[in-house]
Amino acid sequence: MSEESTPEKLVYHPDPSVLEGATVQDWRALEASATADPQAYWAEQASQLEWSRPWDTVLDDSAAPFFKWFVGGRTNIVTNCVDRHLRGARKNKLALIWVGEDTSKVRTFSYFSLNREVEQFANLLTAMGVREGDVVTIYLPRIPEVVFAMLACAKLGAVHSLIFAGYSSDALSSRIQDSESKLVITADGSWVNGKVFPLKDIVDEGIHFSATVENVIVVRNTGQDVSMDPERDHWYHDLCALPIARGHCPTVQVDAEHPLYLLYTSGSTGSPKAILHTHGGYMVGVHTSLQQTFDIREDDRWWCTADPGWVTGHSYLVYGPLLTGATVFMYEGSPTYPHPDRWWQLIEHYGITTFYTAPTAIRSLMRFGDAWPRRRDLSSLRLLGSVGEPINPEAWRWFHEVIGGGRCPIMDTWWQTETGMFQITTVPSMPLKPGAAGRPVFGQDAEVVDEEGHPVPDGTEGLLVLKNPAPAMFRTIFKDEQRYIDTYWAKFPGRYLTGDAAKRDEDGYFWVIGRTDDVIKVSGHRLGNAEVEAALGGHPAVVEAAAIGLPHEVKGNAIHAYVVLAMGREPSQALEQELRDHVAKHLSPIAKPERIEFVEKLPKTRSGKIMRRVLRARALGQDEGDLTTLEE
Ligand code: WTA
Repeated sequence: MSEESTPEKLVYHPDPSVLEGATVQDWRALEASATADPQAYWAEQASQLEWSRPWDTVLDDSAAPFFKWFVGGRTNIVTNCVDRHLRGARKNKLALIWVGEDTSKVRTFSYFSLNREVEQFANLLTAMGVREGDVVTIYLPRIPEVVFAMLACAKLGAVHSLIFAGYSSDALSSRIQDSESKLVITADGSWVNGKVFPLKDIVDEGIHFSATVENVIVVRNTGQDVSMDPERDHWYHDLCALPIARGHCPTVQVDAEHPLYLLYTSGSTGSPKAILHTHGGYMVGVHTSLQQTFDIREDDRWWCTADPGWVTGHSYLVYGPLLTGATVFMYEGSPTYPHPDRWWQLIEHYGITTFYTAPTAIRSLMRFGDAWPRRRDLSSLRLLGSVGEPINPEAWRWFHEVIGGGRCPIMDTWWQTETGMFQITTVPSMPLKPGAAGRPVFGQDAEVVDEEGHPVPDGTEGLLVLKNPAPAMFRTIFKDEQRYIDTYWAKFPGRYLTGDAAKRDEDGYFWVIGRTDDVIKVSGHRLGNAEVEAALGGHPAVVEAAAIGLPHEVKGNAIHAYVVLAMGREPSQALEQELRDHVAKHLSPIAKPERIEFVEKLPKTRSGKIMRRVLRARALGQDEGDLTTLEE
């Protein structure tokens, strides 16, 4: 790639070899035509996929912000992820290569055998009474069965609700209760850096108070003893041996707007909300975005390092790559165990071509120096990607130079659980600016506005809003339409409030700064201040707690908590540790506060709301800003 230096920033221009045969050649022309008529553009994209009944209307916005896409159309995302590939040359192509944390464990599936596994799983779900529209909770680690389970639900028109297999029993239980699911799919355990994380035990605790759960399917993964309730729990391998597991299972054709999944994510206030995605629009959006941004080729080996429990795993580990008919690579373990070259070793060994990961991982691997990746042959790589938080230019350059050999463009993809697909990014033919996500995707438009909703001049920080509806955007918050309106659409009617701050530069590139609401991105994981505070508040020593995010070199942000102790409790290091562990146990190890400070009281507004921004400003030694609402 050629590099062009401007006084304030660098611009990288793609090498002509990157463009040879690329999906998007003339991005300016495509951007212009999609902007002129987004619906025509989306109709064109949708026509690349299979529908059992064509749609009548591309977009129905008559009840905005409740948008409907491809109205009247019928399909199933599985028809497009699996079934259609079986009719052509892809039938015997590898759909999935899975490698365990113990890398001697390898499992591979062609599209043909993926279909067999999905049909089998779907047959079992049917036998257990799962029907169209039912919610199935999936609490599985990164093993092939998570893919089979997701696709099996979708195939039947059931709705999956994945819960990241690092969440505690409390988090699991509240999500199961909210979604009222009757079936939970889990494993005995998962491997985390050589140790077993006891998933089944957590499920047992989690469903203790969940009246709806009737059955639990348990996949054997780690092999330790677990307790099995004979009435409720079933080993997956035992079920697979039953005659009902065998035979063809047709893919149910559903309405384009039929729900595909719920995914709980953290918001500004209260409990996590269930984001609802649907079959038709989601399928079109995710397919288009992956195809264009990562320019998927028939011989690609695509590796997205995300966990299926997060939206990145849904859209770009499972659905997106299978929609494009790519070969998906999936690794069970973490990048630094047992040595910090694990990822580089896998890229070399499996000839990965397209590699999509998070800035926090890049920063953590950078710290181990260049020698680890330099010992490996990474020349199979063609394109790199980043997601989850802004990538700092230093990490960008290391990723580009040391991992990408200076030749692979980096697609910095900005999007959210809610948007389902990339919203701001580049395609390989665009010039790149390290640290800038890029431009709104084709058919989308974005702007940066002030508190009143007026666009701010280029180069000025403001609130990031999206101007157009998009097919893969969520349809609502499950069981809470009012919250859907209030959180995203009420502040600036007609525009979608992202919750992020950003700047746009004079070339129309967006530089995302971070969240403006009470959401903290820790190592790219999305957590709510309120959830951490609630977890701390559950400890008997705590009267009140406030949690904020402060900059952290590797994690991007780290959680700092301020705690008011109950009468008679004294601050101590031991208590600090106990409270940190309490959060890990009752919410998730990823939410463990970096530091806990014991304070006499918390800054509050007169109406009693904790002023987290004051805590933040104090911690960073910044101006505390307007304090007129501070009590006394
Ligand atoms: C942040 C993850 C900067 C942002 C897909 C957004 C990013 C939140 C980027 C959504 C990026 C994601 N550059 N910030 N490329 N990608 N974000 O729902 O703050 O877990 O609002 O979805 O992540 O997090 P979520």
